[in-house]
Amino acid sequence: MTDSTTQNASPYGTLPPASSPATRKPVSLPRLLEMHARGEKIVMLTAYDATFAAVADAAGVECILVGDSLGMVCQGLSSTVGVSLETMRYHTECVTRGVRRVQGTAWIISDLPFGTYHESKEQALRSAAVLMQAGAHMVKLEGGGWTADTVRFLVDRGIPVCAHLGLTPQTVHALGGYRVQGKSEASAALLKRHAHELQDAGATLLVLEMVPAALSAELTTELSHCATIGIGAGKDTAGQVLVLHDMLGLNLGKNPKFVRNFMAELPGIPGQHGIKEAITAYVQAVKNGSFPDNTLHAW
Ligand code: KIV
Repeated sequence: MTDSTTQNASPYGTLPPASSPATRKPVSLPRLLEMHARGEKIVMLTAYDATFAAVADAAGVECILVGDSLGMVCQGLSSTVGVSLETMRYHTECVTRGVRRVQGTAWIISDLPFGTYHESKEQALRSAAVLMQAGAHMVKLEGGGWTADTVRFLVDRGIPVCAHLGLTPQTVHALGGYRVQGKSEASAALLKRHAHELQDAGATLLVLEMVPAALSAELTTELSHCATIGIGAGKDTAGQVLVLHDMLGLNLGKNPKFVRNFMAELPGIPGQHGIKEAITAYVQAVKNGSFPDNTLHAW
């Protein structure tokens, strides 16, 4: 005799069957900019596979970043420098499938990896096309100055772009380590100039990583049509991003100061709390402004 629960069970963490049309409105670029305009915090989280992407989407994360941090998190590399475009394409496709399968609403951003946009604007377009065709809604690239022309070239061709300033992990060797950026007057002025150039070039989101809270607060006010997304940049950015594994307490090394372990904070009732609840707690904490706390998670 077959047990009916066994008959209906699906193995290997299978995603639920494709559901009926989404009850929540899909996140779009105009919607993100509206949120920014009315001061609602934007929540971003990394995900690298279908299941985590579906869970993050269900927990209310608006932007899923297929970050090249997957090089460290999934591939065991010592930095993001070794991540290839093919690897980014593969993980972008996995995340997209996870989100679509559950009629998800999240906006999917995919990182252009090291060496795939540096040579020319045309190379950047070819690389961005690979990620967009894998399901990304937007691509992210690191750095300021020379990148402004590349951003304009992509935006003019219909590719939404998220820029990334401050600690830019792809240039960690040139920066001399994972350090706070924009601390001196000169470096703060340069970072500000780059941010304005990127906004003028058409970038609509800007990740600020390990930037003093006061500087990112100023930039957030100054940039009227580009929403800042902070990671180690204080509480006054338009939104926040964390690496999924860090906020779940799965970083086996030392967590950076800006990380809060949302998994560790859940009340310990076995079977009742888990990853979805930890992500929901992160979403709520960003929305209500209790994360990040400038006295704990910022410089
Ligand atoms: O690759 C990544 O996950 C990122 C975040 C740290 C912003 O770029």
